[in-house]
Amino acid sequence: MPHLFSPLQLNDVTLRNRIGVSPMCQYSAKDGTPNDWHFVHLGSRAVGGAGLVFVEAAAVEPRGRISPEDLGIYNEKHTEAYRRITDFMKEHGAVPAIQLAHAGRKASTYRPWEKDEKGAGVSDEQGGWQVIGPSPIAFAEGYKLPEELSKEEIHNIQESFRLATVRAREAGFQLVEFHGAHGYLAHSFYSPLSNDRTDEYGGSFENRIRFVLETVRIMRREWPENLPFSVRISSSDWIEGGWTVEDSVELAKRLKNEGVDIIDCSSGGNTPDAVIPAGAGYQVPFAEKIRAEADIYTAAVGMITQGMQADELIRNGRADIVLLAREMLRDPYWPLRAAQEVHQTDSLAVPPQYERGWQ
Ligand SMILES: Cc1cc2nc3c(=O)[nH]c(=O)nc-3n(C[C@H](O)[C@H](O)[C@H](O)COP(=O)(O)O)c2cc1C
Repeated sequence: MPHLFSPLQLNDVTLRNRIGVSPMCQYSAKDGTPNDWHFVHLGSRAVGGAGLVFVEAAAVEPRGRISPEDLGIYNEKHTEAYRRITDFMKEHGAVPAIQLAHAGRKASTYRPWEKDEKGAGVSDEQGGWQVIGPSPIAFAEGYKLPEELSKEEIHNIQESFRLATVRAREAGFQLVEFHGAHGYLAHSFYSPLSNDRTDEYGGSFENRIRFVLETVRIMRREWPENLPFSVRISSSDWIEGGWTVEDSVELAKRLKNEGVDIIDCSSGGNTPDAVIPAGAGYQVPFAEKIRAEADIYTAAVGMITQGMQADELIRNGRADIVLLAREMLRDPYWPLRAAQEVHQTDSLAVPPQYERGWQ
């Protein structure tokens, strides 16, 4: 029976355990380029023993950044800068992964720690930009009104995702994830809350998922077959009239047909009015249902903080990978502690430089 510290084979890539560092924006880049902060932040989590370490949402074009300080993957300088990070992660036994993203109508906002003082949307004079989306519906008060994308513009963005996928490969990543969650561009297409288009990209379920399926198809073609491909979705909008987990199961089946290997099961983010019953492991039932009904590997994420809790999910076949975000900010060595908690100390991935601390 697999457990938290069992290796996981994903095509030609082996994760040393089932623990992943969930993508987390650091809002610390200049012109989209990773710097020493990202190197130390991501590098220390690889040293900390995680099997998989995600680089935060990296924008496929400048307009796709959430804040002006977000990472990007839209030029060669970015590709070069990531290589140092992926080399270091691999040297320390972690699989380097990157989330490719477009923030859509939730772009051009201040960093979280500046929002209270300055409001949400960054004006053009202060380095902001016009945001785009499937329809001219703002995310919330204070957010910018998106300009509706023409079909030609949709195809241009899909081309940006293709180029970003090529760059991710050149930069040495071994797993790529399409960011289809949290109210950003892809989610705003498939959720009925933010899409009232009348062309083939809006209306019916089939039309609303078209942007995701087409984009993933284009990206999957560029991403080597022997390397795993993941899609993060918002499994539910948590609101009447919104996207449901049943929709997610159907989407996951379609994505599996497109060669997607993992569904990363998050939720919410497309309306401030959602009532989310957040609590320990509250999104795990999504990973469990999608795994069972779409027959695909899933990653569980959200308020997973304890070794025993994470181990149980794997042992009982509720998910294949466990992603942690905030707990990894508190403790980059969480995987080492979890190995002790679940009595898998043979699996301790302690670098020789730190062995004295763990003897
Ligand atoms: C600082 C911070 C930045 C985040 N940035 C991203 C991101 O870039 N992409 C993403 O899909 N989710 C992002 N998230 C969401 C996390 O990946 C995760 O899904 C969420 O925090 C729930 O997990 P947790 O309870 O372990 O923190 C972010 C969360 C935090 C706390």
